[in-house]
Amino acid sequence: MQRLDQCQIVALPKISDPRGNLTFVEAGRHIPFDIQRVYYLYDVPGGAERGGHAHKALHQLIIAMSGSFDVHLDDGQRKKTVHLNRSYVGLYVCPYIWRELDNFSSGAVCMVLASNFYDEADYFRDYNQFLREIPQ
Ligand code: TYD
Repeated sequence: MQRLDQCQIVALPKISDPRGNLTFVEAGRHIPFDIQRVYYLYDVPGGAERGGHAHKALHQLIIAMSGSFDVHLDDGQRKKTVHLNRSYVGLYVCPYIWRELDNFSSGAVCMVLASNFYDEADYFRDYNQFLREIPQ
C-alpha cells in the first residue's frame, strides 16, 4: 500500500453516557504502534501553522481533543487534507509523511500519541531533503 494510503482515520471506541462520553486508545489494537510519548498543542493563535516536517521512524496518532484543525499530508508524490474535529477520531500518520497543521479553531487542542521519545535526529525539517531521502 502506498504510504499516503496508510494514513487513515481511526474511529476510536466511544462509550456514550449521559454523564459524559468516554474514549480510549489501546496500543497495538487501535493503532499499529506502542505509545512512548504524548504531547499536545494548545493556545494556538488564529492563523498559526504547526508541523512543517516529516519523521524517519516515528508513528503518530493525531486527535482533536477539542475544537478543530486541518492536517495536510504529503508522501512526496500525493497530498491529502484531513479535517479533525471529533475527540473520538484519530488520524494515523506513518513515517516519511510531510505534515502541516493549520486552520486551528479557537480553543483547539491537538493531542499526538507518538511511538518514540522526542528525537530531533528523527526529523526532516527541510522539504527538499525529505524528498531526496524518501525510501523507494
Ligand atoms: P515541533 O515538533 O517542531 O512542533 P510542531 O510539529 O507541533 O509544530 O516542536 C517544537 C519544539 O518543541 C521544538 O523545539 C522541539 C520541542 N519538542 C520537544 O521538546 N518535545 C516534543 O515531544 C516535541 C513534539 C517537541
